[in-house]
Parts: sequence; structure tokens; C-alpha cells
Amino acid sequence: MSFLSERKKTHSAGALRVTDVGRSVVLCGWVQSRRDHGGCVFIDLRDREGQTQIMFSPDVDAAAHALAGELRGEFCIGVEGVVASRGGNVNPKLPTGAIEINATRLEVFSRAETPPFQITDDLDTNEALRLKYRYLDLRRPALQKNFIVRSKASQLTRSFLHGQGFLELETPCLVKYTPGGARNFLVPSRQNQGSFYALAESPQIFKQLFMVAGMERYFQITRCFRDEDLRLDRQPEFTQIDVEMSFVTEEDVQGCMEGMLAEIWRGVLSVELPRPFLRMSHDEAMRRFGSDKPDLRIDLELAEITDAARASGFKIFEQAVAAGGIVKALRIPAPGDKLSRSVLDGLTEYAMPYGARGVAFARVLEGGAWQAPFAKVLTDDARTAMNEQTGAVPGDVLLFVADRAKVVNAALGALRLHLGQKLGLVREGWRFLWLVDMPLFEQADDGSFAAAHHPFTSPRLEDLPHLESDPARCKARAYDCVLNGNEIGGGSIRIHQPEVQARLFHALGLSDEEVQRKFGFLLEAFRYGPPPHGGIAFGLDRLAMLLCGANSLRDVIAFPKTQKGTDLMTDAPSSVATRQLDELGILVKPEVLAKS
Ligand code: AMO
Repeated sequence: MSFLSERKKTHSAGALRVTDVGRSVVLCGWVQSRRDHGGCVFIDLRDREGQTQIMFSPDVDAAAHALAGELRGEFCIGVEGVVASRGGNVNPKLPTGAIEINATRLEVFSRAETPPFQITDDLDTNEALRLKYRYLDLRRPALQKNFIVRSKASQLTRSFLHGQGFLELETPCLVKYTPGGARNFLVPSRQNQGSFYALAESPQIFKQLFMVAGMERYFQITRCFRDEDLRLDRQPEFTQIDVEMSFVTEEDVQGCMEGMLAEIWRGVLSVELPRPFLRMSHDEAMRRFGSDKPDLRIDLELAEITDAARASGFKIFEQAVAAGGIVKALRIPAPGDKLSRSVLDGLTEYAMPYGARGVAFARVLEGGAWQAPFAKVLTDDARTAMNEQTGAVPGDVLLFVADRAKVVNAALGALRLHLGQKLGLVREGWRFLWLVDMPLFEQADDGSFAAAHHPFTSPRLEDLPHLESDPARCKARAYDCVLNGNEIGGGSIRIHQPEVQARLFHALGLSDEEVQRKFGFLLEAFRYGPPPHGGIAFGLDRLAMLLCGANSLRDVIAFPKTQKGTDLMTDAPSSVATRQLDELGILVKPEVLAKS
């Protein structure tokens, strides 16, 4: 009879306490460490819930003791024994530190080679090695905890949404390529050579068609695929909590989602979220924080001083304003010697990646005078106005960027976050907000317009007359959910009238023929009584990252891709045989084939 057919695991390695002393137990897991002393063998046995000390004594079971002498790190074992008190040898660092198991039976399920890195949390092995042996990396307690949190968040989401009358429905991953939005991964069709599917970047159109189909409330925890340049908060395949609802307004969607987030925060962190969340217009967020995902844990704010800068005597300001740009200031209240001259000089380099050519700074002295490289050229009136508009008082430091509005906001918004962290000004807590009244279109540098959210987002009714004549002034019925400076979700009330949808496609520069070819099926569906509807999608990976206090999505995605989109464990993507390419009707350039 095998060990497992006679006995089953009774407890996890994190469960046993002094109240269990005397109990017979079976534990299964991995050897964390082994120590031999006083004729006994001690091991720490680890599973996803914790660690328990096991003692093998020759007096209790000679065979188990002898076998225990062969144990090495990461052997997978089963142990039967009796819980005993450790008496005066309590290990205060472990929740199970007051007990140990007196082993009566040991089974080695499998042996392990010496792993390429130690399975501990305080690990400085390079990330490439960890990703190559991801299954070992995932054994580390900190990562296991993250995946337990992630699983719990998914479960709470599901049960909450089921409770609210949502149907959990699936949509295809292999879809028709539609332009706009993120770059798609393409999948060649063998049966239709020369044609391609796209991997769905989101279920957007399908969930809207569910509403046309009368499903009324839909959700799905679903994988999305985007061929984007990766950052710490982006992966090419990621998971959305995707939601769509019929007969709703913005407030209905937001209120329902606040309930869902409150349930997750309560269930995972035992934190009660104050509701309703703050609503802030896109304009206000850009004006005060230079960002459409402001981190409200930092109290620093920007102030626009363009008017005061126009004829201020300082050429850099004056030229920026004359060229149609703006000037804004970031006030740092009383930083003392934390902002030395060399730190201030270094800020320019920090702001340059955002397009800024420089960061000007001034220290405010008693009486409102400035100590600044350009103080001499600045008029008294300009300085007084700037002090007033920024609220500056003696001891403060003011930072300035003068450029196009986009550059000014991006650079000062980034400096705000950087200095908030550097000066220890980031408060603890969860600062949620809904960003509302967003622009409908985004204007590229060449003047062309693209949908700011996606082309199915409804304009505000009052902006409908200006769709073609003045797209820049149109606002969308869209909303983003922002948490501590991260965009965790985004959605909108959708267009459900075919003629409005067609107008929007035209405003985006699509011809009649293109609209028909690419989106004809959607416009047709809207001819058969579509309900008014709206929805949202949350990034589950981003939620999990924030819930776990991690700073990279890679800590909450089990098998993530590297910056270059590769999987180091399986070595994907990889080349395929010429025969497979032939089957798909794909010709690869010889020089590309030679490289692969
Ligand atoms: P959107 O594109 O804003 O909206 O995506 C919704 C949320 O998904 C997360 N997210 C990502 N997470 C990780 N890696 C990525 N590459 C990535 N891209 C997006 C973010 C984001 O807020 N169909 C619409 C939703 C709707 O209108 O209902 C959509 O996909 O947290």
C-alpha cells in the first residue's frame, strides 16, 4: 500500500498550534532545510500555507529517522506524526513556532537536484534565472501569498457579480481584426490562407452584442492580448474583469463597481472602503496634478502661472507662452535641506524623458523674494503674482516647466510623483477616484483625431452637434477608475444608435466603405432594437498587484513575459518548420529565417 492510499494530508504546514498538541497528523510538502543535532534530524517542511518543524528521533521511529538523514532542500515528502510542544524553544518568527511534529513515518515522494537558487524571499537572484525556473520561483512564500490573494480577489469578484444578477459568459479569443486601439497579435488561418484572426484585445464588441442579445448583465474574467511595448504595469496578455450592463447610466455602473471593489478590499484586506468614491473631471486632474491618473496620497499640486509668465522678464517663460505654450509651477512646501542645489539641478535630467528642456526652480525667502538663477531678470509684479497663484510662503521651493501643455503636465506630473516619494510625502491608504468628463478624441501631433477611449464610447448628448465641426470640444461619457496613481479600470456608456455610431466612425476618418467592411456587423446589429448600455473593464493583474503591495505585474502573473515579450521558461516565441509556414501560406523573408 502506498503512503497516500493509507493516509491523507490532514493539515497545511501553517495550521498547527499548541492547542493541537497530542494530535496525530499527516503533512505533505517540501523540505525547506535540514539540521542534525543531538542524534535527531530536524527539518522545516514548507507548503503554500507556511512552515512546520518536523523532528525525526531514532527512539520514535528508526526507519523514518534513517531516511530523514537523506533529505535535502526541495525533496517532496509526506510525514505522519504527533504534534508536540517545543517547550522553551519557541520560534517567534513562525506562526507554528510553538510546536513540532514527532515523526512516526516519512515518505519521500520525489528527490530534488540542488535548485539554481534558494527558495527564500530575501533573494537577489537575477530575474532572468527566476523566470527560467519560474515553477521554483513560485514556491517562494511571498509569491505564493500573492497568488492566494489573487485567487481570493477572483472568487470575491465572481460571487459578488453573480449576486448582482450578472451572467458569466464567454467570448471568442480568435476574432476579426478591427483597427484602432492597441496593436493586435495576428493568427494566420490555415483553412483560409492569406486571412488572419486577431487575438482579442478585449471582448468589447462581443459584450455589446450580448446586450443586443438581451443578456442584460454580463461579466467575464478574461484574458486580453495586446502587442504593446511592455512596462512594469503592462503585459502582452493580461486579465480583465469585464462587465457590461443594459439600461444604465454612468452612476449605475460606477456604483455597482464600487460595491465590487469594496467586497474585494473587505474580503482580502479587511479594509472598509468609504463610498461613494471621489469624482474628478479630466480637466481638473490635469490642471491640479498634471495627470489623468493622479495619486491623491500626495498633497503636492500644480498651479498654472501662464498669465504672470507672459511678460515676466524671464525669456524662457516668455518664449514658451508666445509659442502658444503654458507655464506651470509645482510648490514644494518647506523642504528644508532635503532639496539641495544639486538635487534641484538633477531634476532637469529627470524631466527630459517627458519632453521638457529644463526645470527652473526658486527658493522663496522672507518677504517673498526669490533665490533663483533667474531671480534678477524677473519683474517684481510677476514674482508677486506667481507667489500668490502658487500659495508660496517663505521656505518653499517652486519648480517650473514652460512648454506645450502636454509636456508641462507630463513633466511636472512626473516630478510630483518623484518628489512625493523622495521627500516621504506619500501617505498610507487607498485613494480611489473616478475620472470623469474625459475628452472624446485624442489629437495626434499631426492634427488627426483618434478615439480617446474606444470608438464605441458615447459622446455627451450636448456635444452631439459638434462631433464633426469641433471634435476637440466633445466630451465622452467615459470614466476611469484610478487607485493610488494607477489606472485600474476604464469604461463608458456606449453608443447604441447606428446613425451616431456611423457619425463617430466618420469623425475618426473612416470612409463609408471602410465602416461597412470593418464594423458593418455591429451597425447592422444596432438596427434590431439595441438597449442603451454601458460597462467597464478592470485590470485584474493591476488590482492584484496593488492588493499585494507589489510593484510589478510580474509578481502577480504566474507565467509572465519579459520586457521583450519572451517566456524564458519555455523559450517562446520560437521558430517553426518551413512546412508549417507553407501550410499557413506564409512566406518568411530568407534573412529572417536565417536568424531564427
Ligand atoms: P482599457 O483598454 O482601458 O479598456 O482596459 C481596461 C483595464 O485593463 C487594464 N489593462 C492592462 N493591464 C495589464 N497590461 C496591459 N497591457 C493592460 N492594458 C489594459 C487596465 C485598464 O484600466 N474594452 C474596454 C473597457 C470598456 O470600455 O468596458 C477596455 O479594454 O487596468
